[in-house]
Amino acid sequence: MNLDIERVLEILEEQVLQSTGRYLSKAEKAVIKGTWDGKEYRDIASDSGYSVQYLQTGVGPQLWTMLSEVIGDAVQVKKAYLKNILIKFTKKYYMELEASKLDNESLVGKTKVYGKLPKIVNFYGRQEEIGDLKKQINIFQESCITVTGVGGVGKTLLIAKVIEEILFEHPNRYDYVIWKSTNRSSSINDLLSEILMIFDVEASNKPLTTKISLLSKQFQAHRCLLVLDGFEKLVEINNYEKKLEYEDFFVGLTNEDHQSYIILTSQIPLEEITHLTTSFSFFSLQLEGLEERAALQMIHEKGLGGEKCRQLIEMYRGNPSELEAVINKIHRFFEGSVERFFEYSTTMMGPQIQAMLHVQFGQAGFLNDLQKQIMIYLARQMSKIPTPIPFSKLVDGLKEQSSLEVSISELITAIDVLERRSLIESSKKSSKQEVSYSLQPVVKKYILVDPLGLVNKEENKMATSHFM
Ligand SMILES: Nc1ncnc2c1ncn2[C@@H]1O[C@H](COP(=O)(O)OP(=O)(O)O)[C@@H](O)[C@H]1O
Ligand SMILES: [Mg+2]
Repeated sequence: MNLDIERVLEILEEQVLQSTGRYLSKAEKAVIKGTWDGKEYRDIASDSGYSVQYLQTGVGPQLWTMLSEVIGDAVQVKKAYLKNILIKFTKKYYMELEASKLDNESLVGKTKVYGKLPKIVNFYGRQEEIGDLKKQINIFQESCITVTGVGGVGKTLLIAKVIEEILFEHPNRYDYVIWKSTNRSSSINDLLSEILMIFDVEASNKPLTTKISLLSKQFQAHRCLLVLDGFEKLVEINNYEKKLEYEDFFVGLTNEDHQSYIILTSQIPLEEITHLTTSFSFFSLQLEGLEERAALQMIHEKGLGGEKCRQLIEMYRGNPSELEAVINKIHRFFEGSVERFFEYSTTMMGPQIQAMLHVQFGQAGFLNDLQKQIMIYLARQMSKIPTPIPFSKLVDGLKEQSSLEVSISELITAIDVLERRSLIESSKKSSKQEVSYSLQPVVKKYILVDPLGLVNKEENKMATSHFM
């Protein structure tokens, strides 16, 4: 994809025509073109034959105002950063074009794109994460990246954005981008067969190890980016045999000296998914909510304002899908007033976080009894006094709650898992202070309300299991 100004102008004009019903004038085109080339009004004037005065006062200001509305995306278009805005705009246009061209197969530069990338309509913040991930992929130390975090925090969208930027910046670097959304009915075996099909390799009846080495050969022959989105859906973390398979998969596909990359999004960290008897290195990012600035932008663009917006962000830890859900509720039930919403001091749970917690509490292999007990204890304590619980209090409290001897090492392991899955939060004010744990409000609410009865279902089992 060559971004020459003629093509940019064509796309821009189409957009202007759609929004305003008119074409760009010759003078406007001259100003845009000149600005793209870094020229001042003076030079644009002498190139185009218009007077400086006319371009500067009769064309420029009106043009920037019009463009702000048409392509500004809430940013005021000015001469100084027109080029950046145009690049961003054109990039978005191309991605939408590619996405709409073909459902399952398209071409960007020389890269064949397979699978359905999520459509990015509004994207806020995450500049740092995008930069880090792109850097990782570019420097190529590890050939696997994992992004973990709670459901709805934005893992899928973030990776889609990273892929979009890579395709835009290096349309000829990769031969294949393969986007695979995993689901509960698929297995690593099926997944491999499906991916091999893309390379015209028929292997559905071959054993797993053969499939892995066949794919590894493809990874050597072509530069590929393989995205496995929502990998937690596929895994069975309490199945030892399966864990060995996952290990074979990741070790077999990342150890080789190739220039392909596996990108994984998952609610469960890869350390827990694979058994990891063999060492293999990967880059991992534990994704948290949006930073305040981005979250505020999102809230404002969705029509809410006022002092309490920051409190809303804090309450939902900047989780974009949670914020989206609560913003909709505030519009529907509180006349768009964040203040009124807070008068009711309630916590709303969005559908994505609930879906995730249903899985964590309800599906075998996700949370064990001790992990559940820790969360239940924190929820109950925090409903009485909403402050973080110090580690020692947690130990004593758990003993009381479940009348059991809980070994410290087991407790620490459980806490580690919960933290890495972003299900609990830790805080420590200084190195001398004891570490404390808490739950974010939505998680606390889920446990206390227990909408599907999944939290309390297993509770009695605790009395009969034993931790040493
Ligand atoms: N950076 C972002 N900007 C705007 N909206 C976002 C962003 N990240 C996530 N969202 C919103 O949150 C929803 C959930 O994001 P998603 O990436 O599917 O979460 P995850 O994969 O972590 O479960 C998206 O559909 C989108 O509406
Ligand atoms: Mg996802």
